[in-house]
Amino acid sequence: MNDHDTPLPTGFKLTALDEEFRATPHPRLDRLRTEAPTFYDSSLNRYFLTKMKDLKTVLKAKGMRVDPRTSAPESYTRLLTGMPADGSNDYEPAILFQDNPNHRRLRSIVAQAFSLRNVNAWEKRITTITHEIIDGFAQETDIDLVVQFAEQLPFRVIALILGIPPSEHVEFCQWGKDIALSLDPLRTPAQTKQMDHAAEKLQHYIGELAQERRSVPKGDLLTILVNAEEDGARLSVDELIIMTKFLLTAGTLTVASLISSGIYLLLSNTEQLQKLKNNPELMPNAIEEMLRCISPATETQRHCPHDMTLEGGEKLEAGKTICISLLAANHDPDTFPHPDHFDIERKNTKHVSFGDGEHFCLGAQLARLEGRIALQALLERFPNMSLQDDTTTYSGLPVFRTLQTLPLKLQGA
Ligand code: HEM
Repeated sequence: MNDHDTPLPTGFKLTALDEEFRATPHPRLDRLRTEAPTFYDSSLNRYFLTKMKDLKTVLKAKGMRVDPRTSAPESYTRLLTGMPADGSNDYEPAILFQDNPNHRRLRSIVAQAFSLRNVNAWEKRITTITHEIIDGFAQETDIDLVVQFAEQLPFRVIALILGIPPSEHVEFCQWGKDIALSLDPLRTPAQTKQMDHAAEKLQHYIGELAQERRSVPKGDLLTILVNAEEDGARLSVDELIIMTKFLLTAGTLTVASLISSGIYLLLSNTEQLQKLKNNPELMPNAIEEMLRCISPATETQRHCPHDMTLEGGEKLEAGKTICISLLAANHDPDTFPHPDHFDIERKNTKHVSFGDGEHFCLGAQLARLEGRIALQALLERFPNMSLQDDTTTYSGLPVFRTLQTLPLKLQGA
């Protein structure tokens, strides 16, 4: 049967929960972009946008919303964020799902810590951590890069920038990993228990450390968060905990994906790898091209307060979730010629992997720095590393595109 005779994919077939989509998302995304770029996915109650031009219109439009509490009752945003069905009064979403004025307040506080100057000041310490982790497996011949490195580094970096004392990093990172289980809708009851236990421990720990930073400020993110005075209002302890948990999820799996998939792209495109080795100054462009190809966060969501009409005449109804496929837009051939080709010298690297508009990723500079340090260190220390085999397995977490394992031979064949 011809592809055009089959119904367009909907619901889970457009998420990593579906095995085929998880392995090769592009055939389905390409089909939607061609046949129905403003598709209404009635299985999950969301519009599903795949063209770069429409993405830009929606993300740049003034007054767009993200808070599930102002979305339509059955909207996908409510499902995604786990908003309680009764809309409980004490439900408070993380920064990415907050509208103004709360969003503006939270964002200006966190942005202080993530300024380019601050991020660059972390370079030396991130490099030290990177080499410490590598030292732990450098003598082995076969490793799993995801488990032994890519997943470790970003948790250690969050611990570092928050100002967690080094002797407590191991425990803190374990809580972070357990809390990240919240992103997996298929987690087992035992994992839910593990996640709740870690959340309780973290809450207690951050509450106490925040108290300390209030009386004895230090130059870390926690001090900025607890002492910020924005419009006369500080972050409450609850907001501080929500922010910490958000950073522990948003800032870890994504960076792990950049590092592991970045290495995978280089090792499976050896002419690009050789080019990078011969021209190390291409690294920043190579990182942008990796971010475009991989799109570690595959989607972001908005809804509009009023009905809206796109340039092509398509109508978007107020309150309904508009799911914007960053992965599809990053492979839109109208913006990126030969989009599936990995080219570290690509001229246009203006991808949307960090989103766009008011919620543009606050950790973008940090992610780029971590990616650069990690890739440079791995290429430098293991110039002959190679893939153990060609198979790749992606995780089933919705909204993230991240390798589950990456078996490598460190010393080459
Ligand atoms: C390769 C790594 C990363 C990718 C691909 C990524 C991607 C994204 C995306 C797509 C958004 C939503 C943007 C939108 O809706 O327009 C976002 C928001 C956010 N990210 Fe990242 N992120 C990464 C790393 C990080 C890191 C390392 C941190 C901090 C430690 C971080 C902190 C945040 C925060 C705080 C927001 C919310 C911004 C807001 O709502 O105003 N991210 N990120």
